[in-house]
Amino acid sequence: TAIARDLIEKIKILKKEKNYTILGHNYVIPELQEISDITGDSLQLARLATEIENDRILFLGVDFMAETLKILNPSKKIIVPTKGATCPMANSLTPELIKKFKEKYPDAPVVLYVNSTAKCKALADYTCTSANAVEIAKKIDSEVILFGPDKNLGSYVAEKTGKKIIPIPGDRGYCYVHNRFSIEDVKLAKEKHPDAKIIVHPEAKKEVRDLCEYIGSTGQMMKFPKEDETKEFIIGTEIGMIHKLSKTFKNKKFYPLKELGICNNMKKNNLKNVYEALLFENNEINLTEEIIEKAKIPILNMFKLME
Ligand code: 13P
Ligand code: SF4
Repeated sequence: TAIARDLIEKIKILKKEKNYTILGHNYVIPELQEISDITGDSLQLARLATEIENDRILFLGVDFMAETLKILNPSKKIIVPTKGATCPMANSLTPELIKKFKEKYPDAPVVLYVNSTAKCKALADYTCTSANAVEIAKKIDSEVILFGPDKNLGSYVAEKTGKKIIPIPGDRGYCYVHNRFSIEDVKLAKEKHPDAKIIVHPEAKKEVRDLCEYIGSTGQMMKFPKEDETKEFIIGTEIGMIHKLSKTFKNKKFYPLKELGICNNMKKNNLKNVYEALLFENNEINLTEEIIEKAKIPILNMFKLME
């Protein structure tokens, strides 16, 4: 629309004038992917933030991702379009719950999915993302691991490593977008697109993962179509990913596993609040020095294990 075009122009001008780098997660709406300097998965974005020289970043995604950027770059100014974009799964775990589990299993290291709050990270030994969870768990020198908050990613890690994964907080820890995918959805999608291969995020349930050809993070999802001759893929993750895949692989077709695979929080970022964020620079991410220092440790431990 004309309004959208006008906002995009204004955003481009302000971004240049105020010298901001825009980093966006793969799930944000197509218009925002287009105005981002870089889009990526949560691991790629966390890494990138430390590599770029610019000390002003506008982050488009949800709060735990912006916090991770701040923890790794405390001197940079990180702003977001809205403080309301959060991750219910990340919020399902609390420091109190972690402490309770630690009392019960004092020898088990705590591995937290980056989809967790900074306060929880401050109590963890390692973080991991969906791109490296299996690798991190394999490399940790312990057969028992306290793992949270995603029970589905936890079960995936257990399956791939053979280790005993104790899910924290347990049954309540899941992503409502991915946990909703069902065996029925896979059957229907395969009937509709019999030649397509299915790619699914490890946040999906085991029974669904087991029916799919590939399992990977949103960053890893960008690699499979390149390595596979198949022309059609069914994508089992948030709908935003369809835009990025279709744009990158123009000669291949991508269908959502479920049209309703929508993360409402990712969708709270829009052209209007991105424009206002650049105009007012008021939604800044601020964490206490203590939290930054403590939460940095498990993230750096993750990077060390990946070397
Ligand atoms: P990725 O690390 O694969 O980008 O996933 C982040 C996320 O929130 C998945 O729902
Ligand atoms: Fe959280 Fe799920 Fe949204 Fe990812 S898609 S940010 S895990 S609610």
